[in-house]
Amino acid sequence: MQLYLDSSSPEEIRTAVAWGVIDGVTTNLSLIAKAGGEMRAALRAVLAVSPGPVFCQVVGWRDVASIKEQAHWLRRFSDRLIIKIPMSVAGITAVSQLKREDPTMQLAVTAVSSVAQAYLVAKAGADIVALFNGPLDLEQDERVRIVAPIRAIYDRAHFPTRILSAGRFARSFGEFAADGSDIITIRMEFLKTLFDHAFTDKRMLAFHADWQKAHGDKTWLSGGEDNSGPAS
Ligand code: E4P
Repeated sequence: MQLYLDSSSPEEIRTAVAWGVIDGVTTNLSLIAKAGGEMRAALRAVLAVSPGPVFCQVVGWRDVASIKEQAHWLRRFSDRLIIKIPMSVAGITAVSQLKREDPTMQLAVTAVSSVAQAYLVAKAGADIVALFNGPLDLEQDERVRIVAPIRAIYDRAHFPTRILSAGRFARSFGEFAADGSDIITIRMEFLKTLFDHAFTDKRMLAFHADWQKAHGDKTWLSGGEDNSGPAS
């Protein structure tokens, strides 16, 4: 399973790359708007620091011709772009036409919020279904578990469409991964929370307290020049 950062901030992307955990970057219209400045410059800045593919969304969701023209333009802009097409009648129509015209164009359908929508996305031939399960999960009374049924449908029908989940906190992140997501994308504010667990902190503090009682602030480097290993 791949991990993407949902961000338009070169600084955030560089930080996550330094942690060694991300495969690429997803953006959306809100994120590119948030980056400020000229839109193409913002996209170039993301491409410059991403370790892999970058998702970029077309503007609008009702006009097939406009969606297709923007997809062709983005394809020419960079071959590392995965083009996000909105979940709508026009979006799905554009995907099926674009994939017939140029099967190598990488297309994702975004803002997918149900199993039924995910079926249509795969049927139209999209490369990736971008589920908004994380944001939805935060708004609903009950857990959102749409990855497992989508995985079952895709596997049974041999649809090659990959499943991207929008990650949130550790519990749903784990569920999305275990249920069969191929990719999880996550904002920096949520990625940071994945490192934490109260039990881990508790054990770290206990290890450290035991060590300090016996050896104070010493580390393994505190024994001088004695580098000899065990007698062989
Ligand atoms: C995923 O590709 C999206 O960019 C992202 O998850 C959008 O959801 P959000 O804006 O609610 O975080």
